[in-house]
Amino acid sequence: MKTITIAIDGPAGAGKSTIAKIVAQRLDIHYLDTGAMYRAVALKVLQEGLDPSNHEQVISILPSTHIGVTYQHKLQRVYLDGEDVTHLLRQPEVAKAASEIAVIPEVRIKLVELQRSIAQNYSVVVDGRDIGTFVLPNADKKFYLTATLEERAKRRWLEMREKGYNQSLEDVKKDLEARDRNDMNRAFAPLRKAEDAILIDTTGKSIEQVADEVCRYLTDISADG
Ligand code: DC
Repeated sequence: MKTITIAIDGPAGAGKSTIAKIVAQRLDIHYLDTGAMYRAVALKVLQEGLDPSNHEQVISILPSTHIGVTYQHKLQRVYLDGEDVTHLLRQPEVAKAASEIAVIPEVRIKLVELQRSIAQNYSVVVDGRDIGTFVLPNADKKFYLTATLEERAKRRWLEMREKGYNQSLEDVKKDLEARDRNDMNRAFAPLRKAEDAILIDTTGKSIEQVADEVCRYLTDISADG
């Protein structure tokens, strides 16, 4: 069976997950949200009352931490130690902790292994920070989505409001800036554009416009499963 992989990287709030979901639907393949895996590890760290910036503490719980992914109608559900935690992963404190634990190489190695094995078995659109550069360097197509900090903060703020979280726009912007710093400056597999990734600036563009733009690059791609 020939599987295809499409990598979508970029900073938080650039529209990766929205676009990745639409592209996966249009191609009728799976969508893999790798950020959700980092968020699940972060959730466990917080639930255990540990400090996400304390590497020793985080590493100590890895052997007993089981992250699993299943698909319902080609959309991902994330399991932490056997429990579906998908609905708990979008909380701001989990996002912040995810970016902290994501600098730890041991965490990344554990999750990258899982990501690679999923991509081997399914055709997937994968979104993350290091997909084109590290996880799947031979992806069939790579995209790097970005947008201005102002626009990304506004989008994230609207999304959080819709979900009932009451953060101010200023706080959302500060959180994004801190996460960008963590994600771009970590030593192991930092966020950066792969040389062969197609750069798309989504500032001022609608979701449909960006999805169409991405799909125009994919006309030569087809999968069996
Ligand atoms: O995409 P997201 O906001 O759900 O990601 C949460 C955090 O996880 C992000 O700040 C950095 C980390 N992450 C990562 O380091 N590598 C990935 N491939 C995906 C996410």
